[in-house]
Amino acid sequence: MRLSIVIGALAATSAASPGVVHPRGYEYGYGDKWKKLPLVDSKKLQKSIKSSALLKGAEKLQEIAYNTPERNRLMGSQGHNDTVKFLKKTLESLDGYYKVELQPFSSLVQLNGTYALAIDGETTESGAMEYSPSGNISAPLVVVSNLGCEASDYPSDVSGNIALISRGSCDFGLKSALAGTAGAAGAIIYNNLPGVIEGTLGVPPRPEGDYVPTLGISQEEGTALVEQISGGASVSATLNIATILETYYTNNVIATSKHGNANTTLMLGAHTDSVAAGPGINDDGSGTIGILEVAKKLSKYKVKNAVRFGFWSGEEEGLLGSTYYVENLDAAGLANVRAYLNFDMIASPNYVHAIYDGDGSAFNETGPAGSAEIEHFFESFFEKNGENSTATAFDGRSDYLAFIENGIPAGGTFTGAEELKTEEEEEMFGGTAGEALDPNYHSAGDTVENLNMDAFVLHTKAIAASVAKYAVSFDSLPPKDLAKRGVAAMLGRSRVRRGGKKARKTYL
Ligand SMILES: *[C@@H]1O[C@H](CO)[C@@H](O)[C@H](O)[C@H]1NC(C)=O
Ligand SMILES: *[C@@H]1O[C@H](CO)[C@@H](O)[C@H](O)[C@H]1NC(C)=O
Ligand SMILES: *[C@@H]1O[C@H](CO)[C@@H](O)[C@H](O)[C@H]1NC(C)=O
Ligand SMILES: *[C@@H]1O[C@H](CO)[C@@H](O)[C@H](O)[C@H]1NC(C)=O
Ligand SMILES: *[C@@H]1O[C@H](CO)[C@@H](O)[C@H](O)[C@H]1NC(C)=O
Ligand SMILES: *[C@@H]1O[C@H](CO)[C@@H](O)[C@H](O)[C@H]1NC(C)=O
Repeated sequence: MRLSIVIGALAATSAASPGVVHPRGYEYGYGDKWKKLPLVDSKKLQKSIKSSALLKGAEKLQEIAYNTPERNRLMGSQGHNDTVKFLKKTLESLDGYYKVELQPFSSLVQLNGTYALAIDGETTESGAMEYSPSGNISAPLVVVSNLGCEASDYPSDVSGNIALISRGSCDFGLKSALAGTAGAAGAIIYNNLPGVIEGTLGVPPRPEGDYVPTLGISQEEGTALVEQISGGASVSATLNIATILETYYTNNVIATSKHGNANTTLMLGAHTDSVAAGPGINDDGSGTIGILEVAKKLSKYKVKNAVRFGFWSGEEEGLLGSTYYVENLDAAGLANVRAYLNFDMIASPNYVHAIYDGDGSAFNETGPAGSAEIEHFFESFFEKNGENSTATAFDGRSDYLAFIENGIPAGGTFTGAEELKTEEEEEMFGGTAGEALDPNYHSAGDTVENLNMDAFVLHTKAIAASVAKYAVSFDSLPPKDLAKRGVAAMLGRSRVRRGGKKARKTYL
């Protein structure tokens, strides 16, 4: 069983980009069949969503996981590959309604690592720098000038020795690469705040050069060392780092309706991979089966706007599949995605009805123009169904991130992960205050038996309602504002992926 602690780099393995859609999607060879279908109707589409079908889908994913020795659907595993096969086959069986494509990509993943440091022979506390190469190096420490963000900060005697660099101003990866370019054998980055620093160098390769074995230490330790060395002392360090980096190969599944205006495509997404600990049935089997069920039922109807379903791989490893997809769209492909709706965990046992905070009213992180209207649409959906709803932040923890970074309005619903239910949420949604919204989050207990089927059905009806609305018209959304980058500006652009629903590692 793999313990994957990461973030990943994306390397193209396919030349074809399924994001490049034909301007008139219905010319894909589906012929005129779609013309005979009735126009999608929200009430009917919602009514077609049945608990039994959702349960059956969830059971199928669990069976796929449990048929493998690892009993999970981790990216790269048999369980995940079989999930991809199942989705492709199901989507292809719908009377040719969708053009179904696998989008292959590969990603470097750090499986595990050990990091040890001794200063003048004495073991010293240190922090992991993800994606550091392995190495066992003993050499004198050489102090790097300023913050080590420029090649000129590295003195010539750093060559063959270990560079001692302050945290700050630029990312750890740049410091490690510049140390490497200057000929250093290793690098130690000391914190600029109290305590030991750990983080990520970001996925290699990077243009400035190769990383050298790198780890982090505390501000206290670092400044004391700088003082000693500046005073003329010679200090030697031993870095012993062993990391295992592996390239994983995997696939997104992309299904696009063969008719409908592809210039204004509605896109929906959910992720198909689990963590190693379990089969991942709420996270995100629920979103996967939810959008799949809507895709199946939609195939009985005509649409005006093309509808595309993205089944993402590698979300848990750092939003890999959705990021790869968006980064490989050309300008026209990007322009054609009129809105993106994300569904990641929609059947949490101790659920809330949460909606991405497109208008920023709850978390002050506004989505791109149109996201507010999408949020308001889902609010009215829950209201019409006699239910309360609440907001969840665009905090970069799921696959909408690459879309909002590119100005695509986004939204969607969520029923909660590891957060504890508040008293107020208990009043609004029932359940148990003080307990996690999903107590089985990222554990072996994330199974069919622990799904809340009421939440699952209601949120899948919300998916159906949103598809029925936007597949007919986007008139309710303001024009796209490409200059607006949503949370991207707030989170700061970086070539380092911000990691999935795991705690984000700091990169600077
Ligand atoms: C899963 O599929 C990928 C991509 O095709 C392949 O590289 C990998 O070996 C497969 N994993 C298993 C366990 O078969
Ligand atoms: C990585 O994990 C495996 C299995 O848990 C273990 O056998 C191996 O020693 C670990 N390697 C490192 C470098 O920590
Ligand atoms: C690291 O290298 C030293 C010699 O420089 C050696 O004595 C030690 O056994 C090595 N440690 C590991 C874990 O390889
Ligand atoms: C889609 O966009 C293309 C290029 O701008 C345009 O030629 C075409 O008429 C548009 N199609 C529809 C149905 O709006
Ligand atoms: C909201 O964010 C903006 C810009 O990021 C900031 O200027 C403003 O102070 C924030 N408002 C609140 C209430 O936090
Ligand atoms: C909605 O929340 C209020 C408390 O804010 C509660 O009184 C009411 O019962 C809730 N409605 C439902 C349907 O749970």
